[in-house]
Amino acid sequence: MANRLVISNIGLLATPLGKTARAGADQGRISLRTGAYLAAEDGVITALGNGIPPRELLEGARHIDAGGRLVTPGLVDAHTHLVFGGWREHELALKRRGVSYLDILAQGGGILSTVRQTREASQEALTEKAAQALARMLCLGVTTCEAKSGYGLDQATELKQLAAVRTLAARQPVELVSTYLGAHALPPEYKDDREGYLRLMTREMIPMVSREGLAEFCDVFCETGVFTAAEAEEILRAAQAHGLKAKIHTDEIDAIGGTELAGWLQAVSAEHLIAATDRGIDALARGGTVAVLLPATSFYLGKPYARARNMIAAGVPVAAASDYNPGSCPSLNLQLVMNLACWNYKMSPEEVLTAVTLNAAAAVCRADRLGSLEPGKQADLVIWDAPNLDYIFYRFGENLVKTVIKAGMPVSEK
Ligand code: NIG
Ligand code: FE
Repeated sequence: MANRLVISNIGLLATPLGKTARAGADQGRISLRTGAYLAAEDGVITALGNGIPPRELLEGARHIDAGGRLVTPGLVDAHTHLVFGGWREHELALKRRGVSYLDILAQGGGILSTVRQTREASQEALTEKAAQALARMLCLGVTTCEAKSGYGLDQATELKQLAAVRTLAARQPVELVSTYLGAHALPPEYKDDREGYLRLMTREMIPMVSREGLAEFCDVFCETGVFTAAEAEEILRAAQAHGLKAKIHTDEIDAIGGTELAGWLQAVSAEHLIAATDRGIDALARGGTVAVLLPATSFYLGKPYARARNMIAAGVPVAAASDYNPGSCPSLNLQLVMNLACWNYKMSPEEVLTAVTLNAAAAVCRADRLGSLEPGKQADLVIWDAPNLDYIFYRFGENLVKTVIKAGMPVSEK
């Protein structure tokens, strides 16, 4: 017999609709259904209705009374650096004194300090640490999470990070999406041989990661002092040739052409984009690339906020994600990201909801199955301790999630 779930007495069911990213005015046009119920069979939504669910639906079903609360799709965190060794709280004083993120990196700290700690950690220790982070994300409403490598840079450690993600995908409820980010920094052993590292990535690592099915995406940190747009192009073209889909970290600090490149390459997503130019934004719109914005990173680095309103006006679908990592965003709280997006990107609650559900699902190529609540989609959802959508943007700073359902199964309850 099918495994049926019925959620009744939903005060407000708020969800974007569709199987693709929503751009422009459509980003804010979501479905708002009051007094609703939802039914799912074997993890897939089969019915939505108003009022009391029909008796035949309730027979033999697991029944949850939502008590008049808000229900939304499960949150998708489309950009995290989930697996890493150690922390970097020693950088706090440097940052407070005004030493810049790129200066810390140029002095061998920053990402390279986490590379050292990740190389030293065992695979078991990395897996355990990431498992704890995922458990906290789940309580905060996250049902799908992207996870990047990039703190190994050498072959053994990159594979150790990717293997940790594979292990975690099988043993806990949050769905994981794996990204190879070998081009996160130039490894110290290649500091006088950029070409050699590019060759290692494009000729050995990318083919191997693809062959072994260790990642779906390839990402590059395209930034002043890290990788140039020409290098990013070489890496991402090699990735695409091997069947990995392209993502790019770019224009976080300086506009060096990475946003334009993302559009030309029809990358699935471009991330950060704080310094993106009008030309870059147009290129994203033409390339059908999702802009993944990371407001908690702007907050933590004391940087400006990306020009979300210009992106929405240009028809670029906007997603928002945590960027959880030990350097530029040591927080994994996607609810905080939603609050920051609302206030600092001047996005409406409806636009932000789309940004962390359907558009975030599109940024990890899962919008056909995840990111909205409608028949045929997977029953990943959150019951909030809130009566309406505005409430979760109003009561910022505490966890407002009551129940999390993944593929029709309750997986977290407060
Ligand atoms: O997305 N900018 C590059 N990578 C990360 C930060 C990594 C780190 O500082 O450890 C980011 O912000
Ligand atoms: Fe990042």
